[in-house]
Amino acid sequence: MLFFVDTANLDDIREATELGILDGVTTNPSLMAKEGISGEAPVLNHYQKICDIVGPGRDVSAEVISTDFAGMIVEGKRLAELHENIVVKVPMTVDGIKAISFFSQAGIRTNCTLVFSAGQAILAAKAGATYLSPFIGRIDDMSWEGIDLIKEIVEIYSTQGYDTSILAASVRSPLHIVQCAKAGADVVTCPLSAIKGLFYHPLTDIGLAKFLADHKKANG
Ligand code: E4P
Repeated sequence: MLFFVDTANLDDIREATELGILDGVTTNPSLMAKEGISGEAPVLNHYQKICDIVGPGRDVSAEVISTDFAGMIVEGKRLAELHENIVVKVPMTVDGIKAISFFSQAGIRTNCTLVFSAGQAILAAKAGATYLSPFIGRIDDMSWEGIDLIKEIVEIYSTQGYDTSILAASVRSPLHIVQCAKAGADVVTCPLSAIKGLFYHPLTDIGLAKFLADHKKANG
């Protein structure tokens, strides 16, 4: 399972890259706004910075703002031309699916975002999306089990032999990451804090302290 960080914060992306386990980055318009990035040139410049930090071979999802097919195509082509790491993130709408189909035929990689049902997942795979982003945290927010959607899509994609990678999104905790790994997600995207939460176990700390104390006793 690949690990992506879901942020536009350059310090977090740098720190995640330095961990040595990062495979990519996802962003969205809310995350860009949170970093105070606005206007076409600053947005493109910020994506360029993210791509430079993560280095070659690590996908960076950049979302279109247009909601109509023609606008998505213009915007998506501009984003894709910016850097080879860029994956064009397109919302799950009628125009979005048409755009994903167009991009797929043009060899431009896509991430179909805002997915909340198995039916939407089938449409995105049929259109040739590279990645599919089901938002599990936002389903949990409505007191449903977000992880059940991942399980359902894993079953459908495996039964049908779809190539689209399942990128579990709106993943917010270490437990979500473990659940996604068990369910067979291809990728998780989450804040850096959720990845860092995987590191810690009190028995690791206690065990290491004992090893070092014993070593000191024996070696002075
Ligand atoms: C996915 O790509 C989205 O950027 C993201 O995971 C949404 O997460 P949230 O529901 O925590 O905002």
